[in-house]
Amino acid sequence: SRPGRMAGIADRRARVVVFPLPFQGHISPMLQLAGALHARGLDVTVLHTAFNAPDPARHPAFSFVAVPDVIPANVPSNGIAKILALNAVMEASGHVRDALASLLEEDEERPRLACLFIDSTLTAAQKAAAGLGLPTLVLHTGSAACFRLFRSYDMLQDKGYLPATESNLHLPIKELPPLQVRDLFDPSKLPNKEIGQKILNLATETTTNSSGAIINTFEDLESHELEMIRFELGSNGIPAFAVGPLHKLSSTYSGETSLLNEDRTCIEWLNTQAPYSVLYVSFGSVVHVTQEEFMEIAWGLANCGKPFLWVLRLGLIAGVEKTELPEGFESAVQGRGMVIEWAPQQEVLAHSAVGGFWTHSGWNSTLESVHEGVPMLSRPLFGDQLPNGRYVQDTWKIGFLLEGVLERGMIGRAITRLTEESEGAMVRERAKDLKEKAQLCLKSNGSSQMAVDKLVDHILSL
Ligand code: UDX
Repeated sequence: SRPGRMAGIADRRARVVVFPLPFQGHISPMLQLAGALHARGLDVTVLHTAFNAPDPARHPAFSFVAVPDVIPANVPSNGIAKILALNAVMEASGHVRDALASLLEEDEERPRLACLFIDSTLTAAQKAAAGLGLPTLVLHTGSAACFRLFRSYDMLQDKGYLPATESNLHLPIKELPPLQVRDLFDPSKLPNKEIGQKILNLATETTTNSSGAIINTFEDLESHELEMIRFELGSNGIPAFAVGPLHKLSSTYSGETSLLNEDRTCIEWLNTQAPYSVLYVSFGSVVHVTQEEFMEIAWGLANCGKPFLWVLRLGLIAGVEKTELPEGFESAVQGRGMVIEWAPQQEVLAHSAVGGFWTHSGWNSTLESVHEGVPMLSRPLFGDQLPNGRYVQDTWKIGFLLEGVLERGMIGRAITRLTEESEGAMVRERAKDLKEKAQLCLKSNGSSQMAVDKLVDHILSL
């Protein structure tokens, strides 16, 4: 029942369950959101799969409940097929339903369970909750622009933007500026286009059936996109909360969300480098490059003359288990660069020695870079990374897209453009301006903090 205005503090407490999609780029923002809710007095239970399970010891403030999942071995662990397989397995097994049912039954001493937060792709979890009368709130781990884009595929097909052809790749999508056809994830280009289409529909389905949408962005970054989303969802009475950048939302919550071990020796190395001199290079947790691209990246960095810190994640090169740097690489670099398997990325981006970020434009990486005012070289590879890179270059003008076939000479020129030339100076300046805005929205009266306050009120009213 809804607490009355005169109700005591104990009555204002509630419990929430959060269920992230089990990938790094989705687990982190969900746990960070949970941290901010916990900091405002809510109890948090994390529902998780055995696959990519978070380590409870790193999050002592939360309770954890594992949901058994048995994904067929032939489903690729990083592919989008895994999301559909997860939903199918969860729906068939009833495990999420059982877990939620026992959480709802738990002893009456604990605050009441108000809602389930799900990743926007977890339709099966939403159905399980609905069956038990438990409302869901949906976390969108991508940008507001991407949220709109994924809801616009029927329009894109009706208006002939898709399927993309050789001749329309540069066509601006006037309904969704600044996007062009080449920035779209085109399901018809996938080996199995039905899977692509289904994936696109998941977020729309979960949002439509939810009691609210939470987006990892902030008002000053995507005001127009948020306004359009509120307009579109408003008629269905679904509120939208812009609470990002989530990794900095709560100053009291310091849970470590990285699934891999961070190599902290790079911070000592950065300490020895001049301010703004180092290019940080990382392509996130899931994308792959080909062996040829890897060679061009390696030689582009070796020859660029700039200090660099390169995250060469295990498995980055498609089909290669153990990565070997090319012969002669180290002598060409002469100690000017460092190569590691996994970085404490947020700390790296915040380090005064870092002056640029060559990124695949995953949304978390983009927001982390925005928050630290680091200009970007964007090399988006799939999905939401493509629109993210377009916004970085054309809307926020805080970086450049690195387009076309990767080649060492062009990599070197792009690095010089970003870090040295006058065009790059303007980009660097704007990145600093945006950093200020990102920091303002996180202050106690900032837009993202006020959105979380409203979100907590909303949770308590459910
Ligand atoms: C995926 C998708 O690719 C991305 O487009 C989507 O927005 C979220 O899901 P991922 O590719 O891993 O995510 O990229 P990103 O969203 O940038 O997340 C990577 C996370 O890993 C970031 O939070 C980053 O700080 C962290 N990271 C990366 C490290 O901690 N260390 C590293 O060395 C590299």
